[in-house]
Amino acid sequence: MQLTQSSVGRKIIMAVTGLVLISFVCVHLLGNSSMFFGADAINAYAQKLHSLGPFVWVFRLVMLAAFAIHLVFGIQLTLENRAATPETNVQVKRLKTGFGAETMIVSGGVLFFFVVYHILHFTARVTNPEIYVPLGDAGMVDVYFMVVNGFRSALPVIVYVAGMIFLFLHVSHGFQSLFQTLGLSNDKSLPVMGTFGKLVGFVLLLGYIAIPLSIVFGYIKL
Ligand code: HEM
Repeated sequence: MQLTQSSVGRKIIMAVTGLVLISFVCVHLLGNSSMFFGADAINAYAQKLHSLGPFVWVFRLVMLAAFAIHLVFGIQLTLENRAATPETNVQVKRLKTGFGAETMIVSGGVLFFFVVYHILHFTARVTNPEIYVPLGDAGMVDVYFMVVNGFRSALPVIVYVAGMIFLFLHVSHGFQSLFQTLGLSNDKSLPVMGTFGKLVGFVLLLGYIAIPLSIVFGYIKL
């Protein structure tokens, strides 16, 4: 397919915003891993973030902008791709790209709903108001208590584990694709980036599901 100049520009912006989002997901996992070191560790980490005051809001706005741009351009490029792909080429295209690549719009869409649910669960405190207890007088909540109680019922555990499988699918292909779009890989290094992308996706999958599963199996408890 012939790419127009504007779709090349949007692909580059998608690659850059994708890199920002993957970096966030990696840093977020590192921070969340302090759940394995007890209540003091995760609450000290949350307190540190809280103490950054207005910077937290600047960071949130940058992340929100990256997320929104990635989403809108992703939908636009998928629609343009579909409009330009002759039906007869569909089989050929599938063979060349694979499952992860073909389902990027689906895994991305599921991740959007996952993030909305996750923010309603832990940040906006809408879905489970019973899991919040205050910590100190600075408007902080006990994050350890919140996360352990947040995974006491089956629904959130199922939503998070399923969400992480889609994160794996999305990152596995997205990682390789962003290096290709930014011109940072060639025919020789592309398969290596593909394998590395799957590895990053797998580490994120295992790291993230380890938290709810450790709570379910009683390894992390109150
Ligand atoms: C087991 C998996 C996860 C756990 C335990 C977890 C935990 C948390 C916690 C404790 C917060 C902070 C709530 C607050 O104090 O305001 C949070 C916020 C957030 N998480 Fe996660 N998270 C997980 C997975 C993810 C994933 C996979 C993503 C992205 C795809 C994600 C994106 C976010 C976002 C965007 C926020 C809001 C950040 C903010 O309020 O500034 N989380 N998460």
